[in-house]
Amino acid sequence: MILKKNNLKASNRVKILKIDPTHINRGFIRQAGCVLRRGGLVVFPTETVYGLGADAFNKQAVAKIFLVKQRPTDNPLIAHIARLNDLKKLTRNIPPQVFLLAKRFWPGPLTLILSKKPTVPKIVTGQTDTVAIRMPDHPVALALIKKAGCPIAAPSANLSGRPSATDITHALSDFGCAVDLYLDAGPTKIGLESTVLDLTVNPPEILRPGAITKKALQKLLGRVVERGYRPESAVRSPGMKYRHYAPNAQLILVAGNKQIMIKKILLFMARYKKDGKKIGVIASRETAKYYHGADHIIVIGSRQNLKEVASNLFRVLRQFNAQGVDIIIAETFPEDGIGKALMNRLRKAASKLK
Ligand code: TXA
Ligand code: MG
Repeated sequence: MILKKNNLKASNRVKILKIDPTHINRGFIRQAGCVLRRGGLVVFPTETVYGLGADAFNKQAVAKIFLVKQRPTDNPLIAHIARLNDLKKLTRNIPPQVFLLAKRFWPGPLTLILSKKPTVPKIVTGQTDTVAIRMPDHPVALALIKKAGCPIAAPSANLSGRPSATDITHALSDFGCAVDLYLDAGPTKIGLESTVLDLTVNPPEILRPGAITKKALQKLLGRVVERGYRPESAVRSPGMKYRHYAPNAQLILVAGNKQIMIKKILLFMARYKKDGKKIGVIASRETAKYYHGADHIIVIGSRQNLKEVASNLFRVLRQFNAQGVDIIIAETFPEDGIGKALMNRLRKAASKLK
């Protein structure tokens, strides 16, 4: 179910506070904390992507997230915490692995699915009995959570189905005045959302790949499974069943080694050109020079630096929306390290799932 927007009150002035993560303006954090305590919405930075936050214990405030984002209500939100002690507000049984994982990866891009306390509103958890929890590795996010005095429920700060926001301008163009306050701390570092790990099953299961890899988790936990997309996992992590990250144009992914990929992309270009289509290409720094004849070529980063490519993905998808191309042809990347999460998002962006 998607909540209707008609009872949404919006002021007509957008409030954006530019905040330097190395010298945090305490007054700005106080203002943002105040907005959250009063049941308002704040867009705030994390190390992965920007979040659209509300007090996790305020049902009306959380309902506004779903309205503003046009997010189906069965797709649960992550509760962001600033201290390990905050876990107790959200979950009853804390399995020992949580402490191992937290010691190694928190604050950081790892979300843990645990059983929820009855006091956690079901609107946060998509009516399920589990709750997603993460401690973000960003000084502004941590300061804000502490000031607000409550866990912050926050999805990525983008309209449902759109690429996540890695820069405040992305969130602004999606939400405008419907959000009470924006905290702008510049572009986010990682650029892809956190790894989601379900600890309510044995062995633990990765529901969404991210910067914390299966290999890193296995080092600590032993066996960890990652089954990729299947209808059953869509039920366990409802976000997986919806279309995601979608650019307006059709996105075509091209596989193969570098030489083969270049050849295939040139063939695709020739075919679509004949149909009179406006063509965009997502290229690497090493290969961009080969794609003569494309209407727009955007360099996403170096094939030698997948972290750079990952951090640019959502921005690049949004740039193509602005260019108004009909077809985007994209190179693909090795699935090592962050490459796994990168390819997961690229595939979802290319899928026809609605
Ligand atoms: O990096 C991130 O995780 C960012 C920043 C803002 O923290 N947040 C983010 O939130 O990506 P969102 O709502 O866009 O994605 C959360 C994912 C969704 O796929 C959702 O279905 C899943 O986590 N999720 C949340 N709660 C869950 C639960 N109780 N059980 C299973 N999956 C859950
Ligand atoms: Mg999201």
